Amino acid sequence: MKHLMNALDLSTDEIGALIDLAENIMQNPDDYAEVCKRKKLATCFYEPSTRTRLSFEAAMLNLGGQVLGFSSADSSSAAKGESVADTIRVISSYADICAMRHPKEGAPFVASMYSRIPVIHAGDGGHNHPTQTLTDLLTIKSLKGRLDNLTIGMCGDLKFGRTVHSLIQGMVRYPNVKFVLISPEELKIPDYLRKDTLIANRIEFKEVSVLEDVLPELDLLYMTRVQRERFFNEEDYIRLKDSFILDAKKMKLAPADMLVLHPLPRVNEIATEVDNDPRAVYFKQAQFGVYMRMALIMTLLGLNK
Ligand code: CP
Repeated sequence: MKHLMNALDLSTDEIGALIDLAENIMQNPDDYAEVCKRKKLATCFYEPSTRTRLSFEAAMLNLGGQVLGFSSADSSSAAKGESVADTIRVISSYADICAMRHPKEGAPFVASMYSRIPVIHAGDGGHNHPTQTLTDLLTIKSLKGRLDNLTIGMCGDLKFGRTVHSLIQGMVRYPNVKFVLISPEELKIPDYLRKDTLIANRIEFKEVSVLEDVLPELDLLYMTRVQRERFFNEEDYIRLKDSFILDAKKMKLAPADMLVLHPLPRVNEIATEVDNDPRAVYFKQAQFGVYMRMALIMTLLGLNK
């Protein structure tokens, strides 16, 4: 593994090894406190982020390394017209590893072609977000105890939600996983995902528009926000933004052991009254992101024990 561009580039055994390492780090953090001493992580974020950037930085600091970087295109020389290729050539002399988020699809891949250090894809437009997928897999494995035999509800913006696309592609590789896709007509999953991933792999799935009807049958509910920044017009966003709101009343319809995940940020789609329900694990999921990114940094730098 030289760069991480797509969670699907990893075999299920490689993902299993990352999950095992992340769980070990979680249980024995002191054993890893100096693993990356004198190593530097550059975070090159051309698009806003709270969790991904800061969890990468926390991950490197927890490993005893150091961090540098920029958090917006405006505060880098991209504002003067510098290309991603030139930027990563330069960053390769400043850091040992780089995490990159960019609004243009494919930009982190372009960076990986010109880089002399490992590049970790940290999100590109509506396309892909592999470290979120790995975090989601760690969360499911750690809290549910398995990645197979699950009925997974995915609710909200299934058209633009890159985390939804990556998680579906990641989960179809485990046995007996079924999907219940809950969205308004306009925000259904893209055709390529339906045909090339679900139908081609003979995965059981259904597409519905009423959350309450399907809650009793779910092992996991993955909520997503409607992605305002991907809409072409504000009217459509306003019409669709509150299509689904998970509240305490709806949670009464769900099984006692159903987990609620959300990649965050949340807008309105989960009422804050749900936050104290023990089944709501989205803040824990964000915390797991640090452990998964620690495992990933160590693995890409060849420092895993
Ligand atoms: N989940 C996620 O990618 O959050 P940020 O956009 O805050 O990084």
